[in-house]
Amino acid sequence: MAIQEISTLPKNGVYTEKTAASLHLLDQGLQAVEKLMYDVVASDVTVLRDASRHILQAGGKRIRPRMVLLSYLACGGRDIERVIPVASAVELVHTASVVHDDINDHGIVRRGRPSVNSIWGRTFALLTGDFLFTKVYELMAPFGDLNILLADATIALVEGETLQASAVKDNNFTRQVYYDIIARKTAALFKSGAMLGAKLANAPASYVEVLGNYGFNLGLAFQIIDDVLDLTGNTEQLGKTAGIDLEQGRGFAAVYEGGQDLMESIKRKVLKGDVLQEAREQAQQLIDMAVIGLNILPETPERDDLIDLSHLVIDRTH
Ligand code: IPE
Ligand code: IPE
Ligand code: MG
Repeated sequence: MAIQEISTLPKNGVYTEKTAASLHLLDQGLQAVEKLMYDVVASDVTVLRDASRHILQAGGKRIRPRMVLLSYLACGGRDIERVIPVASAVELVHTASVVHDDINDHGIVRRGRPSVNSIWGRTFALLTGDFLFTKVYELMAPFGDLNILLADATIALVEGETLQASAVKDNNFTRQVYYDIIARKTAALFKSGAMLGAKLANAPASYVEVLGNYGFNLGLAFQIIDDVLDLTGNTEQLGKTAGIDLEQGRGFAAVYEGGQDLMESIKRKVLKGDVLQEAREQAQQLIDMAVIGLNILPETPERDDLIDLSHLVIDRTH
């Protein structure tokens, strides 16, 4: 099942009035996020506008804004309009990061379309990523202290991408380094998204904390599964260039020590399936940890949606 389909599912096969109302708010929120992101990248500099809309309209799973909205709703927030700029800002940080990431990783396909760098070239892709990052300032301007949360996550993301490039360069992809990298480059943004939703709903500190843990563990699992898919999927299925991690000596598989001939050793182990099995187990453990804390939240359809979302992270095929 695609992540996009989740909001259309009835709970236990039955739509209750409450479920229908909350699904309505979630869908309304996600649609408003699409519109705001599209509108906010308007510019009379056509390359920036066209390249931004190219990557935004290619779709993507929108898991981060969904998480922001669900956290808000799960904490009892009902003024969905209030969350839209923040959910959009989180997705724009992610979108900017993949535009830049494809320059660094030489990715030529993204979200089932040619990547920005492969259509407009590296220079314009770099500038499009910059443009998307600066739009985040604009969207977050009214949100006071919440800016610090998102800024910290964005700093962590850049640090993670940098540590990854350094680890590859220095041939130092240990397990500890791997976890540090994915905590920063992926899990930090998931964590901040969940916390932002809770804070916007004026949730008690305990809810903000469990949702932060949920987002963080979900983010780690998400990246581990992404690394599995990079090895097992193909470009058409993933909608992005597959096999890049192994080729570039990183990802979950790279933590396997290989002595002198690291890449050959990794390839042998990947082919035997050891790496994939272990990665899936670790992702599952992280998902279990992510979900446990949600017990303290009130029983609501949105809390169930957060649990469903965590399962989709494991089961996803793209
Ligand atoms: C890709 O994220 C980058 C990672 C953190 C693994 P997504 O898989 O969420 O990308 P889209 O938004 O659906 O394209
Ligand atoms: C994507 O990282 C960008 C960030 C997480 C910041 P990856 O290189 O691991 O993800 P894909 O496979 O290109 O989407
Ligand atoms: Mg990449």
